[in-house]
Amino acid sequence: MKIGILGASGAVGRQMIQCLEERELPITEIRFFGFGSVGQEITFKDRRYKIEKPFFTGLDVILGAVSSDIAKGYITDIKASGALFIDNSSAFRHDAEVPLVIPQINKEDIVNHHGIIANPNCSTIITLMAVQAINKLNPVTAINAVTYQAVSGAGAKGLEELNAETVAFCQDGKVERKSDVFNYPILFNCIPQIGDLGSDGYTSEELKMEKEARKIMHIADLKVNCTCVRVPVARSHSIAVTVYTKDRLELTQVEAAFSNSEGLIYLKNDLPMPLVASNRDEVFVGRLRKDRIFANGITFFVCGDQIRKGAATNAIEILEHFLKL
Ligand SMILES: NC(=O)c1ccc[n+]([C@@H]2O[C@H](COP(=O)([O-])OP(=O)(O)OC[C@H]3O[C@@H](n4cnc5c(N)ncnc54)[C@H](OP(=O)(O)O)[C@@H]3O)[C@@H](O)[C@H]2O)c1
Repeated sequence: MKIGILGASGAVGRQMIQCLEERELPITEIRFFGFGSVGQEITFKDRRYKIEKPFFTGLDVILGAVSSDIAKGYITDIKASGALFIDNSSAFRHDAEVPLVIPQINKEDIVNHHGIIANPNCSTIITLMAVQAINKLNPVTAINAVTYQAVSGAGAKGLEELNAETVAFCQDGKVERKSDVFNYPILFNCIPQIGDLGSDGYTSEELKMEKEARKIMHIADLKVNCTCVRVPVARSHSIAVTVYTKDRLELTQVEAAFSNSEGLIYLKNDLPMPLVASNRDEVFVGRLRKDRIFANGITFFVCGDQIRKGAATNAIEILEHFLKL
């Protein structure tokens, strides 16, 4: 298999390289593509490669790790190459011909691809890994979620910003922005807006969870209420979730479902937190309890590495399932 990584120098691209090194895929040729980093060196399995200007001819698979505008700009060339494009951006997630896939939930959708398979939003992946375990017990009708999203969710520059603000604070005791990645200082702060604010008061990031969950879980009328918050955490997104089911469930049933779900680790006596989940492919869930307002509500806290399972790992799992077709 001849494979290319578009956006190899970024947070997701670099993680894809590490995930490909960790896994056994039948790679016969690999190319790394970028823009500002063209000419820089990348090491893959002890061999050195140069980041190149994108050219897709001859490739079988392209893993996309660029923004949606950039992904859209390359799609004509990608289609012309005939390669399968597994894209991490939001560019094609809602195209009718593009499967949106979390393999542990809807790997059977992969077969319907027309050259593009989309990776869902990182908070959506991490949340649904736990929600789907409950949905298998009893149909989920609604989700209420509050996210605590790491700075690296805004790309490599988001992490650089937190690091720069931290260093500056240690040197001169001041908290101030060092770049325009976030609209406010992120050190010692929580920013309750990710994405553009719409006229209904919800942000673009918040609406992704509903639209994507409906497509992935095949529940057209699923209701999702979401608040997205950027927090000064390096990596791994956390989400406080309440799920409403058609019928009332017992906690013991949910505990068993969480414990037996592939890719999910249930922490009964410990806490799912970024420092637990970081650099792991599994998603961690805990703080399980009943909703105190509605009898059919289940509340829990879920945490996952959004650069791994929320992006690179999920994309490579999609590829692994595609190769088995
Ligand atoms: N970060 C996360 O946690 C996360 C999670 C899920 C999904 N995603 C999605 O994954 C995608 C990548 O995110 P990221 O966080 O990795 O971003 P990032 O760290 O900012 O990296 C962006 C990448 O895009 C490349 N790029 C920019 N302009 C380009 C062009 N004209 N042609 C080719 N490559 C170009 C950059 O290459 P140069 O350095 O060479 O310019 C860089 O490698 C985005 O769509 C994002 O929404 C991110």
